Amino acid sequence: MGFISRLNLIPVLLIFSCFHLDFGNAIDTITSSQFIKDPETINSKNSRFKLGFFSLENSTNRYVGIWYFSQSTVIWVANRNKPLRDTSGIVTISEDGNLVVLNGQKEVVWSSNVSNTANNSSAQLSDSGNLVLQDNSRSKTTVWESFQHPSDTMLPTMKISTDKRTGEKIQLTSWKSSSDPSIGSYSFSLEPLNVPEVFTWNGTSPYWRSGPWRSGTWNGQIFTGVTEMNSGYLDGFKLGEEEEGTVYLTFAFADDSDLSIFVLNSEGILERRYWNGEKDIWKVGWAEPKDECDVYGKCGTFGICNSLSSPICSCLRGFEPMNKEEWNEKNWTNGCVRRVPLQCERVKNGSEAGKGDGFLKIEMVKVPYLGEWSSSPGDKCRTRCFENCSCIAYANVAGIGCFSWSENLTDIQKFPSGPDDLYIRVDFSELDKERDFKVIIIITVLIGIIIISIAAYFLWRWNTNDRANIQKSGGLLDFSEDLTADMKRAELQELPLFEFAKLATATNDFHSANMLGQGGFGPVYKGILEDGKEVAVKRLSRASGQGREEFMNEVVVISKLQHRNLVKLLGCCIEGDEKMLIYEYMANKSLDAFLFKPLKQKDLDWRKRFNIIQGIARGLLYLHRDSRLIIIHRDLKPSNILLDEELNPKISDFGMARIFKGSEDKDKTKRVVGTYGYMSPEYAMEGLFSEKSDVFSFGVLLLEIVSGRKNTSFYDDDLSLTLVGFAWKFWNEDNVTPLISPEIYDQCFRNDIMRCIQIGLLCVQELARYRPTVATIISMLHSEIVNLPPPKQPAFTERQIMLSAESSQKKHRPSSINNVTVTIVQGR
Ligand SMILES: *[C@@H]1O[C@H](CO)[C@@H](O)[C@H](O)[C@H]1NC(C)=O
Ligand SMILES: *[C@@H]1O[C@H](CO)[C@@H](O)[C@H](O)[C@H]1NC(C)=O
Ligand SMILES: *[C@@H]1O[C@H](CO)[C@@H](O)[C@H](O)[C@H]1NC(C)=O
Ligand SMILES: *[C@@H]1O[C@H](CO)[C@@H](O)[C@H](O)[C@H]1NC(C)=O
Ligand SMILES: *[C@@H]1O[C@H](CO)[C@@H](O)[C@H](O)[C@H]1NC(C)=O
Ligand SMILES: *[C@@H]1O[C@H](CO)[C@@H](O)[C@H](O)[C@H]1NC(C)=O
Ligand SMILES: *[C@@H]1O[C@H](CO)[C@@H](O)[C@H](O)[C@H]1NC(C)=O
Ligand SMILES: *[C@@H]1O[C@H](CO)[C@@H](O)[C@H](O)[C@H]1NC(C)=O
Ligand SMILES: *[C@@H]1O[C@H](CO)[C@@H](O)[C@H](O)[C@H]1NC(C)=O
Repeated sequence: MGFISRLNLIPVLLIFSCFHLDFGNAIDTITSSQFIKDPETINSKNSRFKLGFFSLENSTNRYVGIWYFSQSTVIWVANRNKPLRDTSGIVTISEDGNLVVLNGQKEVVWSSNVSNTANNSSAQLSDSGNLVLQDNSRSKTTVWESFQHPSDTMLPTMKISTDKRTGEKIQLTSWKSSSDPSIGSYSFSLEPLNVPEVFTWNGTSPYWRSGPWRSGTWNGQIFTGVTEMNSGYLDGFKLGEEEEGTVYLTFAFADDSDLSIFVLNSEGILERRYWNGEKDIWKVGWAEPKDECDVYGKCGTFGICNSLSSPICSCLRGFEPMNKEEWNEKNWTNGCVRRVPLQCERVKNGSEAGKGDGFLKIEMVKVPYLGEWSSSPGDKCRTRCFENCSCIAYANVAGIGCFSWSENLTDIQKFPSGPDDLYIRVDFSELDKERDFKVIIIITVLIGIIIISIAAYFLWRWNTNDRANIQKSGGLLDFSEDLTADMKRAELQELPLFEFAKLATATNDFHSANMLGQGGFGPVYKGILEDGKEVAVKRLSRASGQGREEFMNEVVVISKLQHRNLVKLLGCCIEGDEKMLIYEYMANKSLDAFLFKPLKQKDLDWRKRFNIIQGIARGLLYLHRDSRLIIIHRDLKPSNILLDEELNPKISDFGMARIFKGSEDKDKTKRVVGTYGYMSPEYAMEGLFSEKSDVFSFGVLLLEIVSGRKNTSFYDDDLSLTLVGFAWKFWNEDNVTPLISPEIYDQCFRNDIMRCIQIGLLCVQELARYRPTVATIISMLHSEIVNLPPPKQPAFTERQIMLSAESSQKKHRPSSINNVTVTIVQGR
């Protein structure tokens, strides 16, 4: 990319210098006097986007377009249907003020085609990749922009929209093929139904549909039929309506360091792509339709598609194929018809009354196309449908409301997981029979026996392992009870000392490229020592006045601790003002880099997550009990959990840890340090801390691991609930499924996951005395304690303000606690 831009800039500079223009800034604007000729380009100010001429493979045709970093990533094309045949093209502003592409004969090949422009306009390539044509004579009004005339790519902040009155659309249109950008047969647009959906069209017939837009706070801001979409704040979608009745869909990401886009490729597949800056390529996140089942109406009316079964199509229960021969030959276009007429139809026709109709439940589906929507509450939805004979199905879709269908059911898809169930009206004779009951009992008993034997086995294994561990660690610890300054100094001397100069070399003079992250007391760098060993160097910021105390503290604490779930300190460095700690290097950085990043989440399946939970618990147990001192960490959070190559967790950052001697295990501090969102109420409010405050943080961490969400980050402020608040709400509603990250949702582990959620809720209970100890937590995790107590009201279910996730180190007296905007504690 650097090569191309340098090549291009030289001729551009030469030409424009004739016009006496100011070259202090990169050129991002085209005017009538400042035009570009093939192969020149203009750059957006941030140099990410370029506008210029390009060719595609095996062709000499020239196109004018915008690309991201390199020409292989074209995101917009001007003259899609009318390529230039040679390299004599020009992009300029014409006399009528339009942006135009001219060929060698000065004929207009493409024009922005706006009537009413003045003759003094300019086109600017903005930092978001939007090419904006401005009318300068009318105080810079925008008369045209490429975001309103997209090609096949949707960029952040771009709006895909449909005008409800005129039907006018801003939509994506596919290329004909990967080497021909002319308009292909597929388009992607927003359907402004009562509950909007997006569609991919093949010509005029639907090819894929997203399912209705879910806007609930918790599981909201997604399309219900796109199983890969996680949650509001991860995907950053927003659906809105402008005053004139134009419904639009847009997206933006909290973290815009790497561009993320949507592309409708030439096969009609909508791809979510991420820019991989290290390799300069796009990585495909998810794609729809991803298999045959995603294709619109694959199984015809009253058919249901399940990609996990074979054949993929089946008729809904109570229905049979319209044409059995065709159906058996896998031609599903004609769909299915009802086997036994509905009772309410028979009554209408005057024949005898039967036992009545009922509803069959189909779990975890994408609901059919074109339901009638109403905001009726759950119970009313069923009644309303039941009472109206023409209602043949209903669904209570989480975060949206009640849907009902009256004519036919098309495009139903069965998912392996998901919150939405569909109820279809069938005659009484089609409803579930009692005979299934015995089978269910037998299966349940069998499963029960298997689970008990497995549990017994693990219990036995854990017991033996743990005894071995305790014996091992007991021998390693030889810790002085008297923590005087002299002792600290003496202990420091036992620790390897590193020279500042060597560390500077190892980290390339603490170059920002080597920075791994920002800890509570300063940045952490990756370094490679002379012998090739990789280390992490934590450099205490000089500005931090409190640094020295914490430094000594951390060194003393951690140099004596040895456990496989605690990060290992290799040495330290004190020279002049510089204070540094040298740790073993963790290849996989910290837990938050996995847990909250859409691309990385997938790497953490349930087994790995459970392993991490157990590891953290073991590390904590060691801190609280197994080392001869009681150590309260006080700042347990995902960024302080490091992961090694095998994703084993190691607790780090002991700068805030407090050590207790003998039997005392509670303390009160005037300086509340820690991170909002993870601090227990008694600690945040009164400065009281004990091992139960670590248990509280552990509970939050556990809920975060299960749900893949940060305690404090939600897009929608309406409900202002924290993760803990949501967990509590769902727990009381007896349905915690929405809490579970779709990445790990799996029926086999359902009970384990439920157990973890319950343990998490027990840990975050408002009153410290009800919270379990870490030893109890470990027994609970291993199912040694079978009947967990029901959790009581947790603390911090609501929040008042956006909470900062940064470590806070405000100094304050306990009486001035009101200054700390933590969150409100709900009354019980
Ligand atoms: C370009 O031509 C080569 C050789 O004919 C062929 O292998 C390749 O697939 C072509 N590429 C495209 C995009 O058509
Ligand atoms: C330009 O706009 C006019 C009407 O506004 C339309 O008739 C014409 O086809 C357009 N030309 C192009 C090249 O789009
Ligand atoms: C274009 O500019 C000329 C002189 O600068 C002016 O006379 C004319 O009215 C302008 N045309 C429009 C459409 O503004
Ligand atoms: C055209 O617009 C530019 C920028 O606003 C201004 O400097 C210039 O004087 C204008 N030219 C005419 C002829 O109005
Ligand atoms: C799209 O429509 C065309 C023409 O109707 C058809 O030939 C093609 O197979 C369709 N594409 C897909 C993926 O179904
Ligand atoms: C499937 O059935 C429809 C309607 O009977 C027919 O038009 C179509 O050709 C059949 N498709 C195939 C692949 O046989
Ligand atoms: C009811 O009567 C209509 C017309 O009389 C007929 O088409 C329909 O099949 C009948 N339905 C049932 C369930 O008998
Ligand atoms: C029954 O449902 C149909 C279709 O949804 C609707 O048109 C009709 O008004 C409903 N009837 C009553 C009595 O609600
Ligand atoms: C199913 O219903 C939709 C919308 O009500 C209608 O457009 C379509 O033709 C119907 N299909 C069949 C096979 O009846």
